[in-house]
Order: sequence, then structure tokens, then C-alpha cells
Amino acid sequence: MAQTYALRYLTKAALSAPRDLVNSYLATIKPIHPTVLIFNCTWVCDARCEMCSNWKRGDRKLDMTFEQIERVFRSDFWKKIEIANVSGGEPTTRNDLVEICEVMLDRLPRLRKFGINTTGMTPKRAIPMIEKVAAACQRRGVIFSTRVSIDGVGDMHNLVRNVPHGFDKAYETIQAMREMQSRYSFNYGVSTTIFSMNLRDAENILAWARKERLDIVFNMIRFTEPMLGNTGLEQVQKPAGADEERMRQFFLDRVRMDPLMDGQNYIYMHYADMIANGYHRLAPCPFQSQGIMLNPDGGLFFCENSDAVGNVIETDPGELYFRAASQAHRDEVRDKKCPTCLSPCQMNVAAVKQVVPYVKFLVRATNEKRKSPAAKP
Ligand SMILES: C[S@@+](CC[C@H](N)C(=O)[O-])C[C@H]1O[C@@H](n2cnc3c(N)ncnc32)[C@H](O)[C@@H]1O
Ligand code: SF4
Ligand code: SF4
Repeated sequence: MAQTYALRYLTKAALSAPRDLVNSYLATIKPIHPTVLIFNCTWVCDARCEMCSNWKRGDRKLDMTFEQIERVFRSDFWKKIEIANVSGGEPTTRNDLVEICEVMLDRLPRLRKFGINTTGMTPKRAIPMIEKVAAACQRRGVIFSTRVSIDGVGDMHNLVRNVPHGFDKAYETIQAMREMQSRYSFNYGVSTTIFSMNLRDAENILAWARKERLDIVFNMIRFTEPMLGNTGLEQVQKPAGADEERMRQFFLDRVRMDPLMDGQNYIYMHYADMIANGYHRLAPCPFQSQGIMLNPDGGLFFCENSDAVGNVIETDPGELYFRAASQAHRDEVRDKKCPTCLSPCQMNVAAVKQVVPYVKFLVRATNEKRKSPAAKP
């Protein structure tokens, strides 16, 4: 890639530095409007994954209707959102996904980057939707990024996701995204969650993605009720003992062997650090002061580990967010949850906004590289 992550990082940091500095300062003295949004638009799903329980709580009747979503995004609370991600559940199970995305694109005046996570498991529905969203983003000059989840090559993926031929279906969606590149300019790739079941397949997935020339990001398994409904799975699916160390090595190898300026390395270092130090978070997180998560039923959360501060169907999101009681809860999350939180959500955004941690990371990642004879320059 001609323009490296570091170059893009420095360009973005330079361009938005004055505003980010003001925002970071303001956030220390008073709550500011959020700049990062995750909208879980449904829990309904077309897979039944072993590491996530959203599929168990999918119920269309509990999802906000399109009219409700449209009304919610009329609030000027969203006026500073720069990065928005639509997730779930499986977003493409909603017939009105394209319309929802258009509402968000229209009602988020500062939006720069829009993303969708998908299983890609229902290609006939998903492909036309992705194409329409890519077109809508292009028309509005918003960067569009989409990732298909791949948790193994072939049968391993089908086993993790409990979907027969799931890998072939996801691959069909990936191929369609590749083919769309001739018409629309957007980022696409795959996303893999590493946990006890597929840990031994991780290198295999990496080799497959390289062969297919697909951008890949690896997530380390985590447990959160508001976002994945999966705290009950911790005992079963979290790698322990030698497996945990193997997972740490996998992430450290990525830092040592992948190009230094790969934006994901910052997150991989965070995972390796957390395993090594007994889950003590060193990394920044934009959700501490400028993130927001909206769930399918209208529940509003500061992040994947906060409580709901209210419901946006009944009350304006700004009113919920700025209430003294809500802000007190945010302080509590910062004190009690952040110190051990694994979440990588938009951590790169935090890096862009916090120069010192990023420079420290570059120094440490360079040192790690020196330890690996197989390192790439
Ligand atoms: C919750 S899914 C929702 C979107 C879509 N259903 C999918 O699977 O891509 C979003 C992302 O979370 C990842 N994920 C699922 N369970 C996870 C877990 N326990 N820890 C970390 N990431 C997880 C998925 O692999 C996927 O990349
Ligand atoms: S990871 Fe995605 S596909 Fe799997 S159950 Fe969770 S929401 Fe559904
Ligand atoms: S609990 Fe985790 S996701 Fe929430 S603000 Fe803290 S670090 Fe970020």
C-alpha cells in the first residue's frame, strides 16, 4: 500500500490536531458530544456462533422500527459523530438496512468513516445491500469500510458459526465485494475472532487471507453483555494456560512480523500486553470520553461495558447522555471497567487523537521487531 498507516495517521493527526486538542481538553472539564458511534441495529442473526450469544436474543419485534430509528437520528445529539459502525446481530437480516444507513449518512453531518460488519452468510441479500451502501457513501464522500467475519478456513468456520457451507457463502460475498471495486471505491476485508476453538487454525487463516490478498484483522475473544450477550461463555471459550500463551505469541508475532505501519499492530500489542500483565489495560479508548453505543431496542450505552443510560425511543439521546446521573456512571465505568477492559473498538481513533501513546507504541513495536529474525522491514 503506497500510503502507509503511519503516513495517513500523521496526516490525519496533523489535520485534526487543533480540533482534537480542544476536544481532549474540553472532555477533561465537561462532557462533550460523541464522535464515535456503534449502532447494533438488530440482534437477529443468520449464524449461531460459539463465542457470541447475540443470535440467542434476536427478536425482530424488539428492534426499533425504521420510523423510530429515523426519528432518533433527527436529534442534534449526533452532530459531532465522525466514525459510525453498524453491527449486530447480522445487519443484513434487516430488510431496511440500506434505508437505515442512508438516514445515518444524512443525519451525521460530520461523518467521515462508515462501516458495516457482516457474516456475508446470506450473499443474495447482503451483496446488493453492501453495493447500495457503498454507492451512498461514495455519493456523500464518506469512506466506507466493510468486513466479512471468517473464523476458520472451510470446516472450522462452519463449526465456529454453526452454519453448513458457511465458509463458501461468506466467500461468495467477499468475491462480490472484490468485484464491486471496479464500480465503487471502498475498503473491504475479513475479520477473525481468535478463541479456544480456532486458536490452532489462526496461522492457517492468516495464510489463506494472504493467498487471497485480503486485508485481515484478528480480534481476541472478549466477553460483554451489552454488545455480545456472552458473559456466560467465558469459562468455556476463553483460552487458558498454555493456550493463552499461544494466543499471546500469535499476537506478538503479528507485531514482530507484519509491517510496522500496519494499523492493527497497535491493537495486537494491546492484546499481547494484556495477557502478559494479567489484564491491565494500558491502551487508550475513545469511548471513555467520546463514544456511544446504540442497541436494537433503543438502549443507549457509553460503551460495550457500561449500563444503559436510558432508551432513545422515549427520551432524546442528548438528554440521556448529558444527565448528571449518566455522567456519574461514565466516571464509574472509567474507574471500575476500563482498567481491565480488552475492547479494541476504534482504538486506532484514540491513537490518532493521542500522539504520545502512539509514539510509545512505535518505539516498543520496533524493539519487538528486532527480536524476530523473520521480521519484515
Ligand atoms: C458481533 S459481530 C456482528 C456482525 C456480524 N454478525 C458478524 O459476525 O460479522 C461483530 C464482530 O464481533 C466479532 N466477535 C464475535 N464474538 C466475539 C467475541 N466474543 N470477542 C470478540 N469479538 C467477537 C465477530 O467475529 C465480528 O467480527
Ligand atoms: S458473531 Fe455475528 S454472526 Fe456470530 S452470533 Fe454474533 S452477531 Fe451473530
Ligand atoms: S470500559 Fe472498555 S470500552 Fe468502555 S470506555 Fe473503558 S476501555 Fe473503553
